[in-house]
Amino acid sequence: MTTTRIDTAIIVVAAGSGMRLGAGSPKAFVGIDDHTILRHCLRGVFGAAPAQVVVVAPAGRVGEALAEAHEQAGDRRDLVTVVEGGRTRQESVAAGLGRVWADVDVVLVHDAARALTPADVIDRVVGVVRETGHGVIPALDVIDTIKRVDGDAIIGVVERAELAAAQTPQGFRRDVLVAAYERATREFTDDAALVAEAGHDILRTEGSALGFKITTPADLAQARRIVAEAPIAPVRPAGIVRGAPRVGVGTDVHAFGGDGSLWLAGLEWTGEPALSGHSDGDAVAHAIVDALLNAAGLGDIGTHFGTDRPEFAGAHADAFLAETARILSDAGWLIGNVSVQVQAQRPKFAPRRVEAESALSAALGGAAVSVSATTTDGLGFPGRAEGVQAFAVAVVLPA
Ligand code: CTP
Ligand code: MG
Repeated sequence: MTTTRIDTAIIVVAAGSGMRLGAGSPKAFVGIDDHTILRHCLRGVFGAAPAQVVVVAPAGRVGEALAEAHEQAGDRRDLVTVVEGGRTRQESVAAGLGRVWADVDVVLVHDAARALTPADVIDRVVGVVRETGHGVIPALDVIDTIKRVDGDAIIGVVERAELAAAQTPQGFRRDVLVAAYERATREFTDDAALVAEAGHDILRTEGSALGFKITTPADLAQARRIVAEAPIAPVRPAGIVRGAPRVGVGTDVHAFGGDGSLWLAGLEWTGEPALSGHSDGDAVAHAIVDALLNAAGLGDIGTHFGTDRPEFAGAHADAFLAETARILSDAGWLIGNVSVQVQAQRPKFAPRRVEAESALSAALGGAAVSVSATTTDGLGFPGRAEGVQAFAVAVVLPA
């Protein structure tokens, strides 16, 4: 981890649907090459001086955004925050602002859709805000001749020297931005307009031709041509020796008292009392998910399978484990092996141990899984047969 004091935050708004792009999925998750628009944007963001990075993601895509951000963050992964956005860009920025750390005094707001914005533009905006205390936007001179029109009629020329094309990131003193957002009663075209309306000065700094916004399919085609010449470099979290394994630990507890039959270690145990929980209560599977995510440094079960993923309500081990294996593989990890111990008075595990190991292994795409079980001599809640506890350890290797 970096030891620099973090006093800047960059809110990356990525919660839009991308209607005009029309790619069938939220714009930030559309691929430019092997990497998404969001990922490319984060490359610039993490290339700039260290800052808290608040990614504002569409509903249902928070986990995915977190994985993308962690992957690109490298040794700055502790600086990542992800939050769900709102109906409008302004609501999304407000959601991001709500998660900015207390120590931060300068906040930048950046469109994920300006995916190719270079890091030096970001550093420049921060620099001018810190130097002057004013709001700062990157902008480009307008090179086209601009006409004032009324329908098809040209009714005047606009003096080009008076115009500049605004880009992001737009930077502000935190107190100024927060106060301006609190008093905004209507939608503004950008954050600078909202802050200017609240009576503050805004300066411009030099933007970049690469800071164009991907709005239409033609913009995406343009971005694809550019990155084809400069593909994204893989980032490996610091502290990880290339090829070195990493270990992770996970534990889970569920109480008896659910509906239907017992699901444990990926198997259905008919005639046994069910466990209760958001899903099927399979403590063995959940401990494994936590151990794997923990080993890979990708958060935990709540990060990826929270209540924002209703498709996992009532899901069984196979669904959780397959999705976990996918998340790890996307982040560049191979599963070495998984070892899990279950503490339970019942069911009697030994007769189905091998069957459980194969079911769990199959769900993880063939990774080695070993399961052991013990009773606790009548002690504690497992001993009183109130519930089941599982402990898992996993080893993962950089792919
Ligand atoms: N944005 C957001 N939340 C919204 C709307 C927009 O976070 N409710 C973000 C987008 O993800 C994008 C940036 O604001 O990075 C600029 O918006 P725009 O280019 O208009 O993106 P979309 O709204 O997704 O596209 P469209 O207007 O074509 O639907
Ligand atoms: Mg929009």
